[in-house]
Amino acid sequence: MKIGIIGSGYVGLVAGACLAESGNDVVCADIDEDKVARLNAGEIPIYEPGLEPLIERNLAVGRLTFTTDVPSAVRASHVVFIAVGTPADEDGSADLQHVLAVAKTIGQSMDSEKIVITKSTVPVGTARRVRQAIEAETDHPVHVCSNPEFLKEGAAIDDFMKPDRVVIGVDSEYAARVLRELYDPFVRTGRSIMIMDVSAAEITKYAANAMLATRISFMNSIARLCEATGAEVDAVRRGVGSDSRIGSSFLFPGVGYGGSCFPKDVQALAKTMRDFGVDASILQAVEDVNESQKKVLLERVVERLGDDLSGRTIAVWGLAFKPNTDDMREAPSLVTIEGLLERGARVVAHDPVAMDEARHYLGDRIEYAKTNYDALQDAHALVIHTEWQPYRSPDFPRMREAMANPLILDGRNLYDPSDMAGHGFEYVSIGRAVVGVGTPDGEA
Ligand SMILES: NC(=O)c1ccc[n+]([C@@H]2O[C@H](COP(=O)([O-])OP(=O)(O)OC[C@H]3O[C@@H](n4cnc5c(N)ncnc54)[C@H](O)[C@@H]3O)[C@@H](O)[C@H]2O)c1
Repeated sequence: MKIGIIGSGYVGLVAGACLAESGNDVVCADIDEDKVARLNAGEIPIYEPGLEPLIERNLAVGRLTFTTDVPSAVRASHVVFIAVGTPADEDGSADLQHVLAVAKTIGQSMDSEKIVITKSTVPVGTARRVRQAIEAETDHPVHVCSNPEFLKEGAAIDDFMKPDRVVIGVDSEYAARVLRELYDPFVRTGRSIMIMDVSAAEITKYAANAMLATRISFMNSIARLCEATGAEVDAVRRGVGSDSRIGSSFLFPGVGYGGSCFPKDVQALAKTMRDFGVDASILQAVEDVNESQKKVLLERVVERLGDDLSGRTIAVWGLAFKPNTDDMREAPSLVTIEGLLERGARVVAHDPVAMDEARHYLGDRIEYAKTNYDALQDAHALVIHTEWQPYRSPDFPRMREAMANPLILDGRNLYDPSDMAGHGFEYVSIGRAVVGVGTPDGEA
């Protein structure tokens, strides 16, 4: 099939590479000239495990091409995906300017019947606006569908190649048939292609992300109760998650959700609900809990080391909002680091892949360490933000020796508290008892 993908970010690149891998001719278009030049030179602008060889292979055989010429990509394709960004607008709604600009370009460029699919996360009703924008420019027939993307950054290739399900909202039998054919190679193990009406598909994406964000905020609230009562959150998590009606995933407490999707999607869904006169207080609570949870590590540093952190060095392990990505959008680490810098601390950070990306946000206001152990030199505290694999079994005696003060604030519950006192640390984690030096009052 001839496929055009407009927008070559995380979603467009992954979709383009995977659809090319299954034998389609795919042209990925983007208005970012620098990005397209790098892609044509075989350089991948994002860190995503497995993406590079897929792009290299399909570029080499000519099944995948990159261009800045959006109109020619539209003309060369029968199926056109819109995969541009939908950032939060000032009022929390999804900013549709890029989606609608692409729709207009599609309409202006069309020279035959097309199937146009919004893969960007867009509020219910957007497909109708996309259709209007296209039909204002052309008389050629167009089918407008919604095919929300559920990939997880860090596992995006696997998620696309072996999706839990494919959700497709269609406006015609013909579009349903074509999209089924396109996705059939990805669901051979029995996963389903769910064909539904366009509005249901648009709502499904937001509902799924909002549900996951709700689980996170809910467990972070339960973790606060555990801290207040001395209960162990891990036991509660296991007890709750073993209920088959609930399931065990997305029940880990932490430093709050971040990334390019959950924060903006929770806000946008709440805005849509309010616009339709539906009570959105549940989502407001999810967001409020998350905002407060993002401050938890900073508060705990201040409780122990005081509000004036001048002369203090704080090590940070993990900058990305989650492991296996260099994405820093809405990363909770930024909240902690900005708070530390405001209070005069010297911050030395390490992340296995996100340090280049972090420089766009933090510049040289912090120091970037070559290794996670280098970051600890003379540190008065270590703050852990991202559960990268190499941080899980570190050399504790080496850490203890490097640090000026043996204080670890672990936002990801990586270590067993009962071991940490033995290693000579004061160890503060989420929803679990504080152990080690200075407990119970926590004075380091
Ligand atoms: N990143 C994720 O994990 C993820 C997962 C599921 C869904 N989504 C959704 O997919 C959409 C895209 O997200 P992303 O993370 O890939 O965004 P991104 O910011 O990484 O990429 C968007 C790309 O679109 C390009 N673009 C903008 N306007 C354009 C135009 N008029 N013509 C051509 N290209 C244009 C930009 O230059 C950029 O390269 C969003 O709606 C997002 O919510 C993202």
